[in-house]
Amino acid sequence: MSQPLILVLDEGTTSTRAMLFDAAGALHGIAQEELAQHYPQSGRVEHDAGEIWQQTLACARAMVTAAGGADRIAAIGITNQRETVVAWDTASGEPLHRAIVWQDRRTANFCAELKAAGHEEAVRAKTGLVLDPYFSATKMRWLLDNSDAVRAAATAGTLAFGTVESWLVWKLTGGARHVTDASNASRTLLLALEGKDWDADLLALFGVPRAALPAIVDCAGDLGTTTLLGASIPICGMAGDQQAATIGQGCLAPGETKATYGTGAFVLANTGTKPPRSDHRLLGTVLWQIAGERTYALEGSVFVAGSLIKYLRDTLGLLDDAAQSEALARSVADSGGVVIVPALAGLGAPHWRPQARGMIAGLGFDSTRAHIARAALEAMAHQTHDLALAFAADDAGWASLRIDGGMAANDWMAQDVADILGIAVVRPVLVETTALGAAMLAAVGAGIHATLAEAATAMIGATTCFTPAMDEPVRTERLARWQAALATV
Ligand code: G3P
Repeated sequence: MSQPLILVLDEGTTSTRAMLFDAAGALHGIAQEELAQHYPQSGRVEHDAGEIWQQTLACARAMVTAAGGADRIAAIGITNQRETVVAWDTASGEPLHRAIVWQDRRTANFCAELKAAGHEEAVRAKTGLVLDPYFSATKMRWLLDNSDAVRAAATAGTLAFGTVESWLVWKLTGGARHVTDASNASRTLLLALEGKDWDADLLALFGVPRAALPAIVDCAGDLGTTTLLGASIPICGMAGDQQAATIGQGCLAPGETKATYGTGAFVLANTGTKPPRSDHRLLGTVLWQIAGERTYALEGSVFVAGSLIKYLRDTLGLLDDAAQSEALARSVADSGGVVIVPALAGLGAPHWRPQARGMIAGLGFDSTRAHIARAALEAMAHQTHDLALAFAADDAGWASLRIDGGMAANDWMAQDVADILGIAVVRPVLVETTALGAAMLAAVGAGIHATLAEAATAMIGATTCFTPAMDEPVRTERLARWQAALATV
C-alpha cells in the first residue's frame, strides 16, 4: 500500500483550509475557502461557526478526493485560530450565537473592572495571561450575560462552549467528543499553567459554568474518530495555530523561537518543561501536552499583521492584491516619513492597550500609496522589535528568529525584520508551518513517528536565511519614529 497521508484541518481567522501531508512532510494537496468576517460594531469581530463547519467539511472532502479515497488517510490533525469562542446547543448541534473572535474588544470594560478590583496579578501568576479581551473567558461571560439563547441552553443543560478545535471535533465526531487540547485550553484564562483541569477559582471569577466546558486532552493521541469523510478516520493531533507553527518550525528545544505573520503576528519561544513567568508583559502558554507532560512557551501576541494589508486592500482600496505591497515597498527609497501604528484591534503584547486605535502619521502631499504600503510592511518589523526587547528583558533574547505565515513569503518584509532586529531571520521553503506542525502532532498521535523530534527530522525541510544589512543610523531613526508614533495612540 502507498504511504499514509495526514489530513490537516487549519481553521484560521480569515480562511478555512485543509491540507494533505505524507510522513516525510511533503504537501500533497490544499483546499481553501475565505471565511466571512463580521464587524457588527466598532471593536467587535464575529464569525459564523456554521460557516466554519461547512467550509471545513467541504475542504476536507476535497482533500479526500485528492488523496484518492478516505482509506488513504491515516490520521487527522486540527489546528485553529485560538481564543475565539463558539457557543452551541448539544441538543440541536447548532451554534447559539455568532462566534466571538479573538480580536474582539467588547469585553474591555469587564477586563478593566477586574483589573481595578485587583485581580490581574493573581490571574497572571496562575494562567500566564493578562486581563485583556483577547482571551476566551470574558467572551464566554459576555455570551451568558447578553444572549437569551445561550442563557436558556445553560439552564436546560445543553450549552457547550469551546474554542474552534472543540467545535470541529464535536461536529466531526457527531457529538461524541467535547474536548479541547491543553494548548488551546491555556488561552482561555480558565486553566492554570500547571493545572490539569479547569481552575475552580477562575471559573468563579469569570462566572463560567464548568458543565459547559470541554474535557482537556493531549495534543497527540486518540482524540476522537470521524466517520463523516467516507471511512473511519482517527483525529490524532490538535493544537492552537501558533503552538502548531512553533512545532512545525522545529522549535523543540528551550530558547528556539519563531514568529508567524498571519492575521496577527505571534512570537513563541520554547521554554521547556517549566512554566514561564514574564516580568515584561509577555504571556506564558502551553506549547504542547503529550502523554500528560507539558512543554511551555513564552509568547508575544501582536494583533494586527496580515490584517493590515487586507484592510489596505479591501477597505481603503490602496492595493489590488496583498503581493502588490512588496512591489510598492520596493518602488520607493523609504516610507517618506510615513509611519503606521496598526492598532486596529487595540495593541497586544507588550503594550496591552485594548482601547488604542490605529494611526497613519507623517503624511505630506508627496506621500503616495507606495509610501503607505511600505510603512505598513515596516510596522511588522517595528512590532517584532518591541517584542524582541521584552523577550530580552525577560532573559529570553533571540539568537536568530524563524519566521513563517502568509506574510513571511514577502522577501522585502523578511529582510526588513532581519535589518531592524539585527539578527539572522530564517524562513522555511515551505511556509505552511502551522499545518505542518499539526501534521507532526497527528503523525506522533497515530504512531507514524514515535516523537516530535523524530517527526521533525523526517518532515521539516530546507530554509532560506536573511542576514541584517541596514546601516545603523537608518535603523535608529526608524525605531525612534516608531516609538514617537506609538506614544500618541
Ligand atoms: O491567537 C490568535 C491566533 O491564533 C490567530 O492566528 O493565524 O489567524 O493569525 P492567525
